[in-house]
Amino acid sequence: MDLRLNICERVSAVCGIPAGEIAGWLETPPSPDKGDIALPCFKLAKTMRKAPPAIAVELADKLSDIDGVVRIEPTGGYLNFFLDRGGEAKAVILRVLNDGASYGASTEGEGKNVCIDYSSINICKPFAIHHLTTTVLGHSLKRIYDHLGYHTISINHLGDWGTQFGKMLVAFQKWGDRQTVESGSPVRELVKLYVRFHEEAEKDPSLDDEARAAFRKIELHDPESWELFEWFREVTLKDVEKVYKLLGVEFDSYNGEAFYEDKMPAVIQSLVDKGITKVDNGCTIVDLSEYGMPPCLILKSNSGTTYHTRDITAAVYRKNTYDFYKNLYVVAYQQNLHFRQLFKVLELMGNDWAKDCVHVNFGMISMADMTFSTRKGNAIYLEDVLRASIEKTRAIMMDKSPDLPDMDEVARQVGVGAVVWGPLYSSRIKDFTFSWDKALNFEGETAPYAQYTHARCCSVLRKAEGYDASAADWSKLGDESSAALIKAIAALPDAIRSASEKYEPYLISRTVIDICSRFNKFYFDNRIMDDDAGTRNARLAVTDAARIAIKLGLFLVGVEAPERM
Ligand code: ARG
Repeated sequence: MDLRLNICERVSAVCGIPAGEIAGWLETPPSPDKGDIALPCFKLAKTMRKAPPAIAVELADKLSDIDGVVRIEPTGGYLNFFLDRGGEAKAVILRVLNDGASYGASTEGEGKNVCIDYSSINICKPFAIHHLTTTVLGHSLKRIYDHLGYHTISINHLGDWGTQFGKMLVAFQKWGDRQTVESGSPVRELVKLYVRFHEEAEKDPSLDDEARAAFRKIELHDPESWELFEWFREVTLKDVEKVYKLLGVEFDSYNGEAFYEDKMPAVIQSLVDKGITKVDNGCTIVDLSEYGMPPCLILKSNSGTTYHTRDITAAVYRKNTYDFYKNLYVVAYQQNLHFRQLFKVLELMGNDWAKDCVHVNFGMISMADMTFSTRKGNAIYLEDVLRASIEKTRAIMMDKSPDLPDMDEVARQVGVGAVVWGPLYSSRIKDFTFSWDKALNFEGETAPYAQYTHARCCSVLRKAEGYDASAADWSKLGDESSAALIKAIAALPDAIRSASEKYEPYLISRTVIDICSRFNKFYFDNRIMDDDAGTRNARLAVTDAARIAIKLGLFLVGVEAPERM
């Protein structure tokens, strides 16, 4: 990039046109033998009052000694620049080899806290496929921000409060028993009870009154009800922990909605004191009609609190506790309005930090292959999808590389990677359809393909039994496929920064695929173990740089990189 700027500034000095404007004119020559960068000289014809070929000749004459440019050639109306690919290769590769896993890292985040609210599952509800995106997107953002030097706080804002827990309590007391719940899959058992409650309540509406009374008991911390309520939470978390473990996802805080129960009164009071609430039909609301939004409900007419009340309280708590630089909510776009209302209320409260709250929204997920949802309305459990993916992967690997040591572990890494990848390979706002054929295609733009390429780099390096970068002849990396590979590796740091600014990990996963496809081309075009030591060392060094960059990119999107596949 600097190199292009360099060129533009030198051209600018000759013709007087601003360098920024010239930068927009630069083209890539139609074929590599015509150089790396082309300047169309007809753009300068007016200013320089000459025919384009004459301009090209004049500029070629005046522009000697540009750093990083080895040759300048006028060709018709174009001026072509040949870059010093060897120098470029050396700079990029040595930087990657030197930085290793911290390639592209920075200190921009030093001393800054970033709260990331993601996954945020609901107690007693299935951890289903539609929670995949929030979980992997949030996890990836955490790794990206960590890489840039921020201190991140990952928060699982549990959905563990609300009248549905009254229903759970009644259902459990009537039809459940601890042993069944604890011995099977706790969440599935609890969900069964919840479904049964609704079926029975249709026939007997008095159950709903019982449920309301039961929730009241939870609110009043009646010991027996409270103990059960906490147990629901405990067994759910234990159940979902299996999924988090498969994914390698961890949280710094599980403070969910219930956590804010005793913190809400003070916040509600401050809303009232600031005069931004009003009473409407017995409800306490913040009127947002001025901003084109429906009111934000703070207290229901029965003085129950709401999802909004808890989120307002949680935001205030996060600011007080973590003094965040940014407070991210990784939640589906279905909740766009919820967060617009939330942020507006925070702003009306006079919090200048409301502007640091961001709703990182994303599209819906669906399954192309519906074999999991046998009956209508059934949730597709994420754990089932992951386990199926691991199984399918194992079958593929048994076929491809039956002698692989650590088959189980590699099947897990690749099977999980395949599932994680999909929602992180496109702009997050796009709806995403999961399909097995796509996810497990080892030759497509998938995690398994990237993992496979990484393993190929490892294998080349293993067989070479070491190399010496200081003995590399960098000028041997001037061919097209080597130069293209180096360019892709050099692009990773920018991709990481853009991903953090736009909350878009796909910018990283796309760069990873770019590096992989170019590595594979490089691998087929070149004999890495060349007889010439300078060439061999240079090719091994670029292979090592590719390995490091792929592994890092995969790590940042939450995908592991086995060394053998
Ligand atoms: N539990 C909610 C759901 O599953 C998501 C919570 C998101 N976080 C928040 N602070 N509102 O829809």
